[in-house]
Amino acid sequence: MEIFGIDHVELYVGDARQAAFYLGHAFGLQIHGQGGPETGLPDQRSLLLREDAVQIVLTSGLAAGHPAAEYVQRHGDGVAIVGLEVDDTTAAYDELVARGAQPMAGPQTYHVDETTVVIAEVAGFGDVIHRLVERHGPRHEFLPGRMHISVPSAGPDEKLFSEIDHLAICVPSGELEPIAKFYEDVFGFARIFEEYIEVAGQGMDSKVVQSPSKHVTFTLIEPDPNRRPGQINDFLSWHAGAGVQHIALRTSNIVEAVSTLASRGVNFLGTPSTYYRALTGRVGEVETPIEDLEKLGILVDRDHWGQLLQIFTESMHVRRTLFLEIIERRGAMTFGSGNIKALYEAKERELAGAS
Ligand code: FE2
Repeated sequence: MEIFGIDHVELYVGDARQAAFYLGHAFGLQIHGQGGPETGLPDQRSLLLREDAVQIVLTSGLAAGHPAAEYVQRHGDGVAIVGLEVDDTTAAYDELVARGAQPMAGPQTYHVDETTVVIAEVAGFGDVIHRLVERHGPRHEFLPGRMHISVPSAGPDEKLFSEIDHLAICVPSGELEPIAKFYEDVFGFARIFEEYIEVAGQGMDSKVVQSPSKHVTFTLIEPDPNRRPGQINDFLSWHAGAGVQHIALRTSNIVEAVSTLASRGVNFLGTPSTYYRALTGRVGEVETPIEDLEKLGILVDRDHWGQLLQIFTESMHVRRTLFLEIIERRGAMTFGSGNIKALYEAKERELAGAS
């Protein structure tokens, strides 16, 4: 079994058209396909957003019993399916189920002209499902015969995003280790990073698991029940259980991407000015002028291989659950341990008036 990367992420949402309007106008992700009852997807409306290797499907249920309607009723809008591109769906499905994955849907083949796509589904974490996707032929099709592919009529010219870099997943206390082990034992992922994070009396344990191809990365995080309840507890409560907290979109120019998104009304989490005073001492010289990073609130961290620049949007959802991250990697292959701690320490200095 070979897992090449994240093929797509499917969100179940209350209104797919409104979500697509927001992601299109604010993030430049254009509609490249749609499906529904008329294409053989009964009781649902699905829209495919695409940019380079980023594929996001927005699905709304059209009848009360549809899984998307039930998901939204329980969790609000959120990630329901993480599609993984594999070399052989049938073999991967058999292997995953033999290793203990819960089967959700057996292999099915979809075929139009030169394109063949084979999909199957197994359970992941919480209510999130993994869809195995094997693709042959031209890649403009998504789900041949079930989704009508179209060329966007108009939209922004710039291409801001290249791929889904990683997903961050919140899990209840006590589930972090079993879920990390599940991805190791069943999917063959490796643990690439572990960290205990302390922020304002809250404690969080984090483990990062990654596919051997290095193109599927999940950051798993659980709250420390012995510390003050905080933002992870809030997510678990508002989302009603384990789920995807943020989707990180990779860009090759974070300054341009964040400037563009901000000009379109996207709100990002703020960073105190004190963070930037300690920055070069912590991560070394940064190619981008620090004042440009400070103006936009972009965070910089480093790992063994290089630097990474990150920023988080405010939640795009009324429950304050799902949000997006924009990330540019300048050599860094994993994550840095400094960002949250440095941010917290800088915030403390600012509050104490010491700087
Ligand atoms: Fe992240």
